[in-house]
Amino acid sequence: MSLYRTLRPLLFTLPPERAHKMTLLGLRALSKFGRPKQDAPSLSQSLMGLAFDNPFGMAAGFDKDGEAISGVHRIGFGFTEIGTLTPLPQPGNPAPRVFRLVPEQALINRLGFNNRGQMDALARLTAFRQHPKNAQARIIGVNIGANKEASDRIADYELGAARFADLADYLTVNISSPNTPGLRDLQGGEAVLEIIQRVRQAAPNTPILVKIAPDLVVEQACEIAELAVANQIDGLIISNTTLERGGVAGSKYASEAGGVSGQPVFDMSTDMLRAVYGASQGKLALIGVGGVANAAQAYAKLRAGASLVQLYTGLIYQGPGLVASLKRELEAQLKADGFDTISKAIGADHK
Ligand SMILES: Cc1cc2nc3c(=O)[nH]c(=O)nc-3n(C[C@H](O)[C@H](O)[C@H](O)COP(=O)(O)O)c2cc1C
Repeated sequence: MSLYRTLRPLLFTLPPERAHKMTLLGLRALSKFGRPKQDAPSLSQSLMGLAFDNPFGMAAGFDKDGEAISGVHRIGFGFTEIGTLTPLPQPGNPAPRVFRLVPEQALINRLGFNNRGQMDALARLTAFRQHPKNAQARIIGVNIGANKEASDRIADYELGAARFADLADYLTVNISSPNTPGLRDLQGGEAVLEIIQRVRQAAPNTPILVKIAPDLVVEQACEIAELAVANQIDGLIISNTTLERGGVAGSKYASEAGGVSGQPVFDMSTDMLRAVYGASQGKLALIGVGGVANAAQAYAKLRAGASLVQLYTGLIYQGPGLVASLKRELEAQLKADGFDTISKAIGADHK
């Protein structure tokens, strides 16, 4: 952490996207140096038929094209989620489109699903899977979306699911990005049911999660959870970025369009997670994401009902050492509270 404290001011002199590219390059280089350290047995769990060494995952959007999978695992994450990947490559919105809100420990982004497209990532992931040194690789999720110009967005999700069904450990259906006009509407009405059913059919044997927005009203989130259970969807990821500006009022970037991530999303995403867990107890795997930057926040997500915790913005502000300190502190916290495995802490607030 201290090395990152020294480097961060330098990194923050660069525009966010340039700093991000350099970070990805650094992680690619790091992947050549050994394997991730073994985690404490108390942090491991089996979920959706997958063995997670620890509950911490790199959230979607960090490694959109799946270029730094080994590097992300190497810094200690139990899993990484690549994407969002759309069927065709697309450039996203014009720059600047990522803003650092340093006093708020937040970001605003309106990238708009910039990615090199599914076929590019598919080739890279196929090569990754075929390489003998990756036989024991940690978990890899693939997050799929729709192209901005798609005439049939639901067909885009179906296609993404079919393409990655055999390569991904799990698939995430991202219907909650605020940066593709109209995409979030897919969370309501008949659309969400149709997406869930068609994606399930396209990838019958792959765990599937649906990623939702923190701006839904709780009833809508619980409705999606109900549909998920009824249609053999494995879980939900709660949540994506928010359109709310309450938590960043007064920031010079507050009026920039896009989704807010980081500290301002913590409470709203954790509240929604808690409500959905309460409504669907035990029937869905929940991944908690939004504003996690320390072990107490990660533990709060677990106790509220998350089986796994993802992060993105916290890493930008705290650096890669955050993952090791989260694991160390969580292990100590579990012990202090008398939980010999993480599974016993999940949803503990509800008991
Ligand atoms: C720069 C940036 C890009 C993102 N891109 C994606 C994306 O492509 N797909 C997605 O599902 N979520 C994306 N997210 C949302 C994150 O995965 C996460 O849900 C959100 O940032 C809240 O977590 P955090 O507060 O730990 O960052 C992005 C977030 C950021 C900051």
